[in-house]
Amino acid sequence: MRVLLTGSRGFVGARIREALPVVEAPSLRNADRAAIRRLLAESRPDVIVHTAAISDIGACDAQPEASQYANVTIPVMLAEEATGAKLIFFSSDQVYGGCAESGPYAEDTVTPANLYAREKLEMERRVLDISPDAVLLRATWMYDAPLYGVPNRHNLLSLLLRAAIRREPMTFSRSEYRGITYVREVAEHIPRLVDVPGGAYNYGSENPLSMFDTLSEMVHRWGLPVEIQGDAQPHHNLWMNCEKLRRHGIHFSDTVQGFERCLSDYDLHILTR
Ligand SMILES: NC(=O)c1ccc[n+]([C@@H]2O[C@H](COP(=O)([O-])OP(=O)(O)OC[C@H]3O[C@@H](n4cnc5c(N)ncnc54)[C@H](OP(=O)(O)O)[C@@H]3O)[C@@H](O)[C@H]2O)c1
Repeated sequence: MRVLLTGSRGFVGARIREALPVVEAPSLRNADRAAIRRLLAESRPDVIVHTAAISDIGACDAQPEASQYANVTIPVMLAEEATGAKLIFFSSDQVYGGCAESGPYAEDTVTPANLYAREKLEMERRVLDISPDAVLLRATWMYDAPLYGVPNRHNLLSLLLRAAIRREPMTFSRSEYRGITYVREVAEHIPRLVDVPGGAYNYGSENPLSMFDTLSEMVHRWGLPVEIQGDAQPHHNLWMNCEKLRRHGIHFSDTVQGFERCLSDYDLHILTR
Protein backbone atom coordinates (compact mmCIF):
# COMPACT_ATOMS: atom_id res chain seq x y z
CA MET A 1 0.00 0.00 0.00
CA ARG A 2 1.49 3.33 -1.09
CA VAL A 3 0.92 6.16 1.40
CA LEU A 4 1.50 9.71 0.20
CA LEU A 5 2.23 12.10 3.09
CA THR A 6 1.99 15.89 2.77
CA GLY A 7 3.63 18.21 5.29
CA SER A 8 6.25 15.58 6.11
CA ARG A 9 8.65 18.23 7.40
CA GLY A 10 6.03 19.70 9.75
CA PHE A 11 5.40 18.93 13.41
CA VAL A 12 2.90 16.11 12.88
CA GLY A 13 4.14 14.95 9.47
CA ALA A 14 7.68 14.38 10.76
CA ARG A 15 6.33 11.96 13.39
CA ILE A 16 4.07 10.17 10.90
CA ARG A 17 7.05 9.78 8.57
CA GLU A 18 8.89 8.00 11.38
CA ALA A 19 5.93 5.81 12.32
CA LEU A 20 5.17 4.27 8.90
CA PRO A 21 6.64 3.96 5.42
CA VAL A 22 5.44 6.85 3.25
CA VAL A 23 6.13 8.64 0.01
CA GLU A 24 6.87 12.24 0.98
CA ALA A 25 5.15 14.93 -1.10
CA PRO A 26 7.21 18.01 -1.92
CA SER A 27 6.06 21.29 -0.38
CA LEU A 28 2.55 22.15 -1.54
CA ARG A 29 2.88 25.89 -0.87
CA ASN A 30 1.01 27.61 -3.71
CA ALA A 31 0.64 24.28 -5.54
CA ASP A 32 -1.79 24.55 -8.46
CA ARG A 33 -3.99 21.85 -9.94
CA ALA A 34 -1.38 20.84 -12.51
CA ALA A 35 1.24 20.33 -9.77
CA ILE A 36 -1.19 18.23 -7.76
CA ARG A 37 -2.07 16.13 -10.81
CA ARG A 38 1.64 15.58 -11.47
CA LEU A 39 2.28 14.61 -7.87
CA LEU A 40 -0.56 12.07 -7.92
CA ALA A 41 0.44 10.66 -11.29
CA GLU A 42 4.02 10.15 -10.06
CA SER A 43 3.20 8.81 -6.60
CA ARG A 44 0.06 6.73 -7.44
CA PRO A 45 -1.06 6.62 -3.79
CA ASP A 46 -3.52 4.16 -2.30
CA VAL A 47 -3.77 6.45 0.74
CA ILE A 48 -3.12 10.17 1.17
CA VAL A 49 -2.34 11.51 4.63
CA HIS A 50 -2.65 15.27 4.36
CA THR A 51 -1.13 17.29 7.20
CA ALA A 52 0.13 20.35 5.27
CA ALA A 53 -1.71 23.50 6.34
CA ILE A 54 -1.30 26.94 7.78
CA SER A 55 -1.90 25.72 11.30
CA ASP A 56 -1.37 28.94 13.24
CA ILE A 57 -4.64 30.74 14.03
CA GLY A 58 -2.99 34.19 14.08
CA ALA A 59 -1.25 33.56 10.75
CA CYS A 60 -4.61 32.62 9.19
CA ASP A 61 -6.17 35.87 10.44
CA ALA A 62 -3.18 37.87 9.16
CA GLN A 63 -3.24 36.29 5.67
CA PRO A 64 -6.82 35.20 4.95
CA GLU A 65 -6.28 34.57 1.24
CA ALA A 66 -3.20 32.42 1.80
CA SER A 67 -5.02 30.63 4.57
CA GLN A 68 -8.05 29.86 2.38
CA TYR A 69 -5.73 28.58 -0.34
CA ALA A 70 -3.68 26.38 1.99
CA ASN A 71 -6.46 25.15 4.25
CA VAL A 72 -9.33 24.73 1.77
CA THR A 73 -8.31 25.03 -1.89
CA ILE A 74 -5.32 22.67 -1.75
CA PRO A 75 -7.07 19.84 0.16
CA VAL A 76 -10.16 20.18 -2.05
CA MET A 77 -7.99 19.92 -5.18
CA LEU A 78 -6.22 16.89 -3.70
CA ALA A 79 -9.60 15.23 -3.08
CA GLU A 80 -10.85 16.07 -6.57
CA GLU A 81 -7.77 14.72 -8.29
CA ALA A 82 -7.08 11.66 -6.11
CA THR A 83 -9.66 9.31 -7.51
CA GLY A 84 -9.70 5.97 -5.73
CA ALA A 85 -7.27 6.85 -2.91
CA LYS A 86 -8.34 6.70 0.74
CA LEU A 87 -8.09 10.25 2.08
CA ILE A 88 -6.99 10.90 5.67
CA PHE A 89 -6.92 14.67 6.18
CA PHE A 90 -6.17 16.67 9.32
CA SER A 91 -8.76 19.06 10.70
CA SER A 92 -8.89 20.59 14.19
CA ASP A 93 -10.77 20.63 17.48
CA GLN A 94 -11.03 24.38 16.91
CA VAL A 95 -14.34 23.63 15.14
CA TYR A 96 -15.82 23.41 18.67
CA GLY A 97 -14.44 26.77 19.82
CA GLY A 98 -17.76 28.64 19.66
CA CYS A 99 -20.01 25.91 21.07
CA ALA A 100 -22.32 27.26 23.76
CA GLU A 101 -23.48 23.79 24.87
CA SER A 102 -21.50 22.13 27.64
CA GLY A 103 -19.13 19.43 26.37
CA PRO A 104 -17.63 17.02 25.72
CA TYR A 105 -18.66 17.40 22.10
CA ALA A 106 -19.46 14.62 19.68
CA GLU A 107 -18.72 15.25 16.02
CA ASP A 108 -22.08 16.75 15.03
CA THR A 109 -21.97 19.67 17.50
CA VAL A 110 -19.77 22.29 15.86
CA THR A 111 -19.49 26.08 16.06
CA PRO A 112 -16.22 27.47 14.74
CA ALA A 113 -15.14 30.76 16.31
CA ASN A 114 -12.21 31.84 14.14
CA LEU A 115 -11.17 31.85 10.49
CA TYR A 116 -8.90 28.81 10.80
CA ALA A 117 -11.75 26.77 12.30
CA ARG A 118 -14.27 27.93 9.69
CA GLU A 119 -11.84 26.91 6.97
CA LYS A 120 -11.20 23.52 8.54
CA LEU A 121 -14.95 22.90 8.69
CA GLU A 122 -15.44 24.05 5.10
CA MET A 123 -12.57 21.75 4.06
CA GLU A 124 -14.13 18.79 5.90
CA ARG A 125 -17.51 19.30 4.25
CA ARG A 126 -16.18 19.82 0.74
CA VAL A 127 -13.76 16.88 0.94
CA LEU A 128 -16.54 14.61 2.22
CA ASP A 129 -18.84 15.77 -0.59
CA ILE A 130 -16.18 14.76 -3.12
CA SER A 131 -15.06 11.59 -1.36
CA PRO A 132 -17.57 10.22 1.20
CA ASP A 133 -14.99 7.62 2.24
CA ALA A 134 -12.56 10.35 3.42
CA VAL A 135 -11.54 10.42 7.10
CA LEU A 136 -11.25 13.91 8.60
CA LEU A 137 -9.30 14.04 11.83
CA ARG A 138 -10.19 16.71 14.37
CA ALA A 139 -6.86 16.88 16.15
CA THR A 140 -6.25 18.57 19.49
CA TRP A 141 -3.29 20.67 20.59
CA MET A 142 -0.34 18.26 20.45
CA TYR A 143 3.08 18.01 22.07
CA ASP A 144 6.32 16.11 21.98
CA ALA A 145 9.63 16.37 23.78
CA PRO A 146 12.46 18.08 21.86
CA LEU A 147 14.15 15.61 19.53
CA TYR A 148 17.33 15.88 17.51
CA GLY A 149 16.69 16.73 13.86
CA VAL A 150 12.90 16.82 14.14
CA PRO A 151 10.88 20.07 14.20
CA ASN A 152 9.18 21.06 17.40
CA ARG A 153 7.32 24.10 18.61
CA HIS A 154 6.26 25.49 21.94
CA ASN A 155 3.68 23.16 23.34
CA LEU A 156 2.27 22.41 26.77
CA LEU A 157 5.15 20.10 27.73
CA SER A 158 7.84 22.61 26.73
CA LEU A 159 5.96 25.47 28.43
CA LEU A 160 5.62 23.46 31.65
CA LEU A 161 9.29 22.43 31.70
CA ARG A 162 10.33 26.01 30.91
CA ALA A 163 8.25 27.30 33.82
CA ALA A 164 9.87 24.68 36.10
CA ILE A 165 13.37 25.74 35.04
CA ARG A 166 12.56 29.44 35.49
CA ARG A 167 10.49 28.86 38.66
CA GLU A 168 7.68 30.84 37.06
CA PRO A 169 3.97 30.42 37.89
CA MET A 170 1.50 29.44 35.16
CA THR A 171 -2.13 30.49 34.93
CA PHE A 172 -4.86 28.24 33.57
CA SER A 173 -8.60 28.51 33.43
CA ARG A 174 -10.83 26.62 35.83
CA SER A 175 -13.55 26.68 33.18
CA GLU A 176 -11.62 25.69 30.04
CA TYR A 177 -11.83 22.06 28.98
CA ARG A 178 -9.80 20.51 26.15
CA GLY A 179 -7.82 17.41 25.37
CA ILE A 180 -4.09 17.69 24.69
CA THR A 181 -2.44 14.83 22.85
CA TYR A 182 0.97 13.18 22.65
CA VAL A 183 1.78 13.46 18.94
CA ARG A 184 3.32 9.97 18.83
CA GLU A 185 -0.09 8.46 19.57
CA VAL A 186 -1.51 10.58 16.74
CA ALA A 187 1.10 9.12 14.37
CA GLU A 188 0.88 5.51 15.49
CA HIS A 189 -2.90 5.22 14.99
CA ILE A 190 -2.74 6.43 11.36
CA PRO A 191 -2.42 2.96 9.72
CA ARG A 192 -5.66 1.79 11.37
CA LEU A 193 -7.60 4.69 9.85
CA VAL A 194 -7.44 3.09 6.42
CA ASP A 195 -10.25 0.74 7.49
CA VAL A 196 -12.37 3.39 9.19
CA PRO A 197 -15.50 4.51 7.29
CA GLY A 198 -15.66 8.05 5.92
CA GLY A 199 -16.57 10.97 8.16
CA ALA A 200 -15.19 13.46 10.66
CA TYR A 201 -13.65 11.99 13.80
CA ASN A 202 -12.50 13.51 17.06
CA TYR A 203 -8.92 12.32 17.09
CA GLY A 204 -6.93 12.70 20.27
CA SER A 205 -6.87 12.44 24.04
CA GLU A 206 -10.00 13.07 26.03
CA ASN A 207 -9.77 15.01 29.26
CA PRO A 208 -12.35 15.13 32.05
CA LEU A 209 -10.38 17.86 33.87
CA SER A 210 -10.32 21.63 33.43
CA MET A 211 -7.02 23.10 32.29
CA PHE A 212 -6.35 24.30 35.84
CA ASP A 213 -6.99 20.82 37.25
CA THR A 214 -4.99 19.14 34.47
CA LEU A 215 -1.89 21.21 35.16
CA SER A 216 -2.32 21.01 38.92
CA GLU A 217 -2.47 17.20 38.64
CA MET A 218 0.63 17.05 36.46
CA VAL A 219 2.67 19.35 38.68
CA HIS A 220 1.61 17.36 41.74
CA ARG A 221 2.40 13.95 40.15
CA TRP A 222 5.81 14.96 38.94
CA GLY A 223 6.77 17.24 41.82
CA LEU A 224 7.51 20.17 39.53
CA PRO A 225 8.33 23.51 41.18
CA VAL A 226 5.59 25.37 39.29
CA GLU A 227 2.76 27.22 40.98
CA ILE A 228 -0.45 26.70 38.97
CA GLN A 229 -2.75 29.66 39.38
CA GLY A 230 -6.47 29.47 38.63
CA ASP A 231 -8.21 31.91 36.35
CA ALA A 232 -12.00 32.11 36.52
CA GLN A 233 -12.38 33.86 33.15
CA PRO A 234 -14.79 32.06 30.85
CA HIS A 235 -12.89 30.36 28.08
CA HIS A 236 -14.12 28.56 25.04
CA ASN A 237 -14.01 24.81 25.25
CA LEU A 238 -12.58 22.39 22.74
CA TRP A 239 -13.73 19.45 24.73
CA MET A 240 -14.00 16.29 22.62
CA ASN A 241 -15.80 13.01 23.08
CA CYS A 242 -13.92 10.33 21.13
CA GLU A 243 -16.52 7.56 21.36
CA LYS A 244 -17.00 7.47 17.57
CA LEU A 245 -13.33 6.64 17.08
CA ARG A 246 -13.34 4.10 19.92
CA ARG A 247 -16.13 2.22 18.15
CA HIS A 248 -13.52 1.51 15.46
CA GLY A 249 -11.02 0.20 17.99
CA ILE A 250 -8.83 3.33 18.20
CA HIS A 251 -8.06 4.39 21.76
CA PHE A 252 -5.90 7.28 22.92
CA SER A 253 -4.49 7.69 26.41
CA ASP A 254 -6.39 10.34 28.32
CA THR A 255 -4.57 13.67 28.55
CA VAL A 256 -2.70 13.13 31.83
CA GLN A 257 -1.84 9.49 30.91
CA GLY A 258 -0.49 10.73 27.58
CA PHE A 259 1.93 13.05 29.36
CA GLU A 260 2.97 10.15 31.61
CA ARG A 261 3.70 8.06 28.54
CA CYS A 262 5.73 10.84 26.94
CA LEU A 263 7.81 11.32 30.11
CA SER A 264 8.47 7.55 30.17
CA ASP A 265 9.27 7.31 26.43
CA TYR A 266 11.92 10.02 26.76
CA ASP A 267 13.00 8.99 30.25
CA LEU A 268 12.16 12.51 31.36
CA HIS A 269 11.29 11.25 34.83
CA ILE A 270 15.01 11.60 35.38
CA LEU A 271 14.22 15.33 35.64
CA THR A 272 11.15 14.98 37.82
CA ARG A 273 12.18 12.47 40.47
N1 LIG B 1 0.09 21.12 15.90
C1 LIG B 1 -1.07 21.09 16.55
O1 LIG B 1 -1.09 21.15 17.79
C2 LIG B 1 -2.37 20.94 15.77
C3 LIG B 1 -3.59 20.97 16.48
C4 LIG B 1 -4.77 20.73 15.79
C5 LIG B 1 -4.77 20.50 14.43
N2 LIG B 1 -3.59 20.53 13.76
C6 LIG B 1 -3.61 20.25 12.30
O2 LIG B 1 -2.76 19.14 12.06
C7 LIG B 1 -2.08 19.30 10.81
C8 LIG B 1 -0.58 19.23 11.03
O3 LIG B 1 -0.20 20.27 11.93
P1 LIG B 1 1.33 20.67 12.14
O4 LIG B 1 1.42 21.21 13.53
O5 LIG B 1 2.19 19.54 11.73
O6 LIG B 1 1.49 21.84 11.12
P2 LIG B 1 2.82 22.68 10.77
O7 LIG B 1 4.02 22.01 11.32
O8 LIG B 1 2.54 24.10 11.15
O9 LIG B 1 2.80 22.63 9.18
C9 LIG B 1 2.80 21.41 8.47
C10 LIG B 1 3.31 21.67 7.08
O10 LIG B 1 2.37 22.46 6.35
C11 LIG B 1 3.07 22.98 5.23
N3 LIG B 1 2.62 24.37 4.96
C12 LIG B 1 2.89 25.46 5.70
N4 LIG B 1 2.37 26.55 5.09
C13 LIG B 1 1.77 26.10 3.96
C14 LIG B 1 1.05 26.73 2.91
N5 LIG B 1 0.88 28.05 2.88
N6 LIG B 1 0.55 25.96 1.91
C15 LIG B 1 0.72 24.62 1.92
N7 LIG B 1 1.42 23.96 2.87
C16 LIG B 1 1.92 24.70 3.88
C17 LIG B 1 4.56 22.95 5.55
O11 LIG B 1 5.18 21.98 4.75
P3 LIG B 1 6.36 22.41 3.72
O12 LIG B 1 7.42 23.02 4.55
O13 LIG B 1 6.72 21.12 3.08
O14 LIG B 1 5.71 23.40 2.78
C18 LIG B 1 4.59 22.49 7.00
O15 LIG B 1 5.70 21.71 7.30
C19 LIG B 1 -2.57 20.63 10.23
O16 LIG B 1 -3.64 20.36 9.36
C20 LIG B 1 -3.07 21.37 11.45
O17 LIG B 1 -4.06 22.32 11.10
C21 LIG B 1 -2.39 20.73 14.38
